[in-house]
Amino acid sequence: MEAAEPRREITVWVNGIRYRRQVPVRMLLADFLRHELELTGTHVGCEHGVCGACTVLWDGEPVRSCLLLAVQADGAHLTTVEGLASPGGRLHPVQEAFRETHGLQCGFCTPGFLLTVAAFLRDHPDPDPDEAAIREALSGNLCRCTGYQHIVAAVKRAARLLAETGVPAVPRHQPAGGEGA
Ligand code: FES
Ligand code: FES
Repeated sequence: MEAAEPRREITVWVNGIRYRRQVPVRMLLADFLRHELELTGTHVGCEHGVCGACTVLWDGEPVRSCLLLAVQADGAHLTTVEGLASPGGRLHPVQEAFRETHGLQCGFCTPGFLLTVAAFLRDHPDPDPDEAAIREALSGNLCRCTGYQHIVAAVKRAARLLAETGVPAVPRHQPAGGEGA
């Protein structure tokens, strides 16, 4: 009889909510988010670190959750696409910009793009960002639908919306009291 896979307890903050879970030591972070926490906005495309669909923010920096283990996230603060809109459901300016400029079609790649763009615009808050810099920032995310032109337009629009509204490009989640389900 095969020995059961070892498990380890982790504590992780996702979108400001603290979760404590026993996880198999080989569970991918992407699978933890999707299957344990039911945050299915994090998409899995290639599972090889190539497409960027699984991008989440780890202490504010974009990472590929298909290349990380859940146990590595012990103590980390993560932001997933579910953490972008306000608690009342109002779209985040980056989401609003993608919607306005038709920056998505099937939407499979979109969560990864949104988080990549949010981190980029936090670090480059110019309301009229350089197009070459935008394309460089997007180069790690693949989209099979849009041809990228609308996504570039979305980044430009998002930069303006962020400047106009003063909404943080990366939401600052106050750690909520209590634990996630
Ligand atoms: S699923 Fe992680 S980079 Fe493609
Ligand atoms: S919108 Fe379909 S893959 Fe990008």
